[in-house]
Amino acid sequence: MSSVVEPRTFAAPKIRQTGILIGDEFRSSVSGKTFATVNPATEEVICQVAEGDAADVDLAVRAARAAFETGPWSRMDGRDRGRLMNKLADLAEKHLDELAALETLDNGKPINDARAADLPLAIDCLRYYAGWADKIKGDTVPIRGDYFCYTRREPIGVCGQIIPWNFPLLMVAWKWGPALATGNTIVIKPAEQTPLSCLRMAELALEAGFPPGVINVVPGFGPTAGAALVAHPQVDKIAFTGEGTTAKIIMREAADTLKRLTFELGGKSPNIVFADADLDAAIAGAEFGLFFNQGQCCCAGSRLFVEESVHDEFVEKLIRRTRQRVLGNPFDTETQQGPQVDQAQFDKIMGYIDRGQAQGANCVTGGQRFGNRGYFIEPTVFTNVHDQMDIAREEIFGPVLSILKFKDVAEVTQRANNTCYGLAAAVWTRDVQKAHQMAHALRAGTVWVNCYDVFDAAAPFGGFKMSGIGRELGEAGLANYTELKTVTMAMPPR
Ligand code: NAI
Ligand code: MG
Repeated sequence: MSSVVEPRTFAAPKIRQTGILIGDEFRSSVSGKTFATVNPATEEVICQVAEGDAADVDLAVRAARAAFETGPWSRMDGRDRGRLMNKLADLAEKHLDELAALETLDNGKPINDARAADLPLAIDCLRYYAGWADKIKGDTVPIRGDYFCYTRREPIGVCGQIIPWNFPLLMVAWKWGPALATGNTIVIKPAEQTPLSCLRMAELALEAGFPPGVINVVPGFGPTAGAALVAHPQVDKIAFTGEGTTAKIIMREAADTLKRLTFELGGKSPNIVFADADLDAAIAGAEFGLFFNQGQCCCAGSRLFVEESVHDEFVEKLIRRTRQRVLGNPFDTETQQGPQVDQAQFDKIMGYIDRGQAQGANCVTGGQRFGNRGYFIEPTVFTNVHDQMDIAREEIFGPVLSILKFKDVAEVTQRANNTCYGLAAAVWTRDVQKAHQMAHALRAGTVWVNCYDVFDAAAPFGGFKMSGIGRELGEAGLANYTELKTVTMAMPPR
């Protein structure tokens, strides 16, 4: 038996593309401006990236429009679109280590997470949707009278996609997968913090043979490049993942052109541990559900409700585990936690830690910056948290866990649902009835039972309430990328 020895540390990859992709060409911005992208582990500039704004967005949208209306893409059979998508997935797999290292460099996430989670999930998502490309179909509809009526699912057109920095490449796959499978064309704006993996992926898409203009990439900032995409009359749809306040701006700005909108926003997800649960599994799930990806997950289990009778034992064990987390160089395979993505996020999180203490919660571990270089924050746990404190109500998006105590099912259900969010929730119990009772009562788009953060391309994901509009992934994710057309034709009388 041979075994491949994994290296202890990975190297930063070579940066290949830093331009704006329009058609099949990576170019400078019309304005000539660039912006720096920073390595959050060292605070050093990685490279300059072309900074797109309204002029570049306009060129990209024109390219996408032409590809949609007249290009080979608009005449391509679904099966051939699927083949291209599978080819892109194969290329991403071939370059898995390079793409993973790009994520680690630009975002700061541990290389192990990028290699074991972000990349495999992104590749799987593309393959999953590649399988749908030749299975997009309508119905025949029995209507009254002498008519033949059927429906078709047609692409929406040019899709503007605006994505965040927490899972840069995975968000690309979630957005491209359903859009490409259904025959749309794309202008994507990656987050200003993490543009590099999206640009490399777009280069691989050209290598796979996607026709020019099907995928266009405009790196830049939200209020300029992002806003131009939202306002552009030739963009038919915006798919956005990010902050709720940004979604509100987008919704207002999209009103003039009545764009289709789908939103995947934040959360304050309850993770509920009953006394009858497998406590060791629940402790591991609580740690993973919050600290994974430096706490920068929209579905982070940031409100940990623990039943009173096991609270103290649970907290003690969880603190012990939390203190063992390994922070450091994200390129080191031993590292479990890297830096936060940037100074702004670091400051925001430290502000919440201060407010948690000021409002009377107990910071039982962590609470400080880790080291003196990079945006690292110690894994932080608060106990004695009450529902009205800021750390129990607002999305922190960092390694800060709030533990709340509860007495019974009715009470915890009411408290868990008492939030403007509704993205995810989890329940830990050995009682099957209680599990389903809770799963039905919780107002959230995803409920995990005795597990956390289990994602699959086939399982729909999205938010109730202010956590979003529409669903991504699964068959449900396709609906957001098609227009339904009804065709009715007169038939000779029977
Ligand atoms: P954001 O919502 O401002 O940024 C997300 C994307 O939207 C980026 O590509 C950005 O350039 C773009 N954008 C920003 N303003 C825009 C505008 N006016 N028009 C069009 N596009 C615009 O989120 P940000 O500032 O990066 O993070 C702030 C907070 O948002 C985080 O602390 C976290 O609480 C939350 N967040 C939630 C995410 C999620 O997955 N639900 C992901 C990222 C952030
Ligand atoms: Mg912002």
